[in-house]
Amino acid sequence: MSILLAVTGWDAGPWRRRLEAKLPGHVVVTPETAGDPAAIRYGLSWRHRPGAFAHLPNLRAIFSLGAGVDHVLVDPQLPEVPIVRVVDADLTTRMSEWVAMQVLLHHRQFRRYDDQQRARIWDEDENQPAARDVRVGLLGLGELGRDAALKLKALGFDVAGWSRTPRDVEGVATFSGEAGLEALLRRTDILVCLLPLTAQTRGMLNRALFEKLARDGRLGGPYLINAGRGALQVEDDIAGAIRSGLLKGASLDVFQVEPLPADSPLWGFPNVYVSPHNSAISEPDAIAGYIAGQILAFERGEPLRNVVDRARGY
Ligand code: NDP
Ligand code: OXD
Repeated sequence: MSILLAVTGWDAGPWRRRLEAKLPGHVVVTPETAGDPAAIRYGLSWRHRPGAFAHLPNLRAIFSLGAGVDHVLVDPQLPEVPIVRVVDADLTTRMSEWVAMQVLLHHRQFRRYDDQQRARIWDEDENQPAARDVRVGLLGLGELGRDAALKLKALGFDVAGWSRTPRDVEGVATFSGEAGLEALLRRTDILVCLLPLTAQTRGMLNRALFEKLARDGRLGGPYLINAGRGALQVEDDIAGAIRSGLLKGASLDVFQVEPLPADSPLWGFPNVYVSPHNSAISEPDAIAGYIAGQILAFERGEPLRNVVDRARGY
């Protein structure tokens, strides 16, 4: 039995080695070394080339090597097998670290003090709002949003979150649906986006949304943090909002085009942090362990976990 590993932009080697170690008796092949299509029972994807999983008569499931599945669902030749995504404590913890760091960088004015250090300036600034006076709003209260919300809450922030369906998170004000979005934005100083990319969420981080953010907060204006997907954001609107002061700053881990083109204005704003889509990497050891566990359980007759709803898009 073999597993087809179809990745773009990642080194397949570490994945193949770990999967074969954790799944004795399974051979991990790539589209170039696939051999007999009938031998392939599972597909593993990170931005696979469209059609890579078509015409495999015994394919039983496709695993995304990430938490997001937009890169899988985009394939017009995707076979009708279950699509499974990553839900794993290693990845979740990485994301919450990044989110907490970005919130704190803005809240504690890191850029300013970094600049001051370089210029040997000692200026304390008396405007130091407490975390409890800073309202963080999370778009997305799924695996990642919920964990980030709880960790930000533990740091003392005034946290709220938004989801498609109503969700309860202890100590966090929750909102859902269209009307809920307006209410969340009105009370948000730092907006954190951990949404999946779907037909409903594409392009929603735009000027009209930024205009609804709170402007009466202790930080002197709103901030945007996005680690969801680049296509959720309209980058011209972000650049314009930073220039005009509609946004006071931003942290972006994902972009409409990745790698972010060298001529993007987003590289050059002092109050915009750019990271190369690595806020929460899929660490091969952790994620190969998660996928191997699912395959072994499925082969024993147990149901797959974290299967994506194709109609919903996540
Ligand atoms: P989940 O599916 O667990 O959670 C998604 C959340 O978004 C849910 O709360 C869901 O609502 C909400 N949501 C989806 N559509 C809408 C909508 N139209 N309106 C309001 N809320 C909506 O996903 P994860 O938390 O595991 O991951 C989120 C995303 O993070 C991934 O899809 C991926 O794109 C991104 N990601 C980025 C990484 C990076 O390195 N930059 C790493 C890992 C993930 P409901 O609860 O009602 O279903
Ligand atoms: C993911 C990602 O979806 O790394 O997991 O972007």
